[in-house]
Amino acid sequence: MLKQIIAPSVLNANFLELGNGLKAIENGGAGLVHLDIMDGHFVPNISFGPGISACVKKGTKLPLDCHLMIENPENYVGEFAKAGASIISVHAETTNHLDRLLHQIAELGVKPAVAINPATPLESIKYVLDIVDMVLIMSVNPGFGGQSLIPYCLDKIRELRALKPELNIQIDGGVKLDNILACKEAGANIFVVGSAIFGKPDPEAVCREFVAKVNG
Ligand code: DX5
Ligand code: ZN
Repeated sequence: MLKQIIAPSVLNANFLELGNGLKAIENGGAGLVHLDIMDGHFVPNISFGPGISACVKKGTKLPLDCHLMIENPENYVGEFAKAGASIISVHAETTNHLDRLLHQIAELGVKPAVAINPATPLESIKYVLDIVDMVLIMSVNPGFGGQSLIPYCLDKIRELRALKPELNIQIDGGVKLDNILACKEAGANIFVVGSAIFGKPDPEAVCREFVAKVNG
């Protein structure tokens, strides 16, 4: 039976209060901290790197779920492993050697995961489904929090769940209290939530609501 996990993304958190924010989601029942790593090349935004990730690691007991939205991820997975990542997701669109890269992550002692953008077909990752611990299905075009979920991405999750009943499937982007049950029904079991938690006055209470909803 797959665990239902809420993975708050700190992308839109108040970084002046990040320690309190991490405590809030921990107390709110989150299972992972989702770190959106952006390089301004693969996506039209720049966020933070291994240094901030290492600080986050010191500020929480929760495992770090590092989502690399960067070119040349081969050059950086070692840095994020050193920073304390438990999971590293790399985009299939950012490497010519996905199989080799996923093995590289596993050899670092980190759980390998593959991510695909909304328009990228499942076909592109079907041969690595047995190598990964998780598949991240983007449900927004990557680069920013606060966007709306793209409905056809739920169809993709449904297709993937039918293919791999025991696989961890993470949905990432536009997840809200009013659509998370549809995401779960489609087959996701790990839910990235950014602005719907960190954009709110009481992130702990909202996180608790998300946890209750998916475990209800
Ligand atoms: C977007 C990121 C998502 C995003 C989620 O590129 O990968 O993790 O921060 O934020 P919301 O939940 O606000 O869409
Ligand atoms: Zn993400």
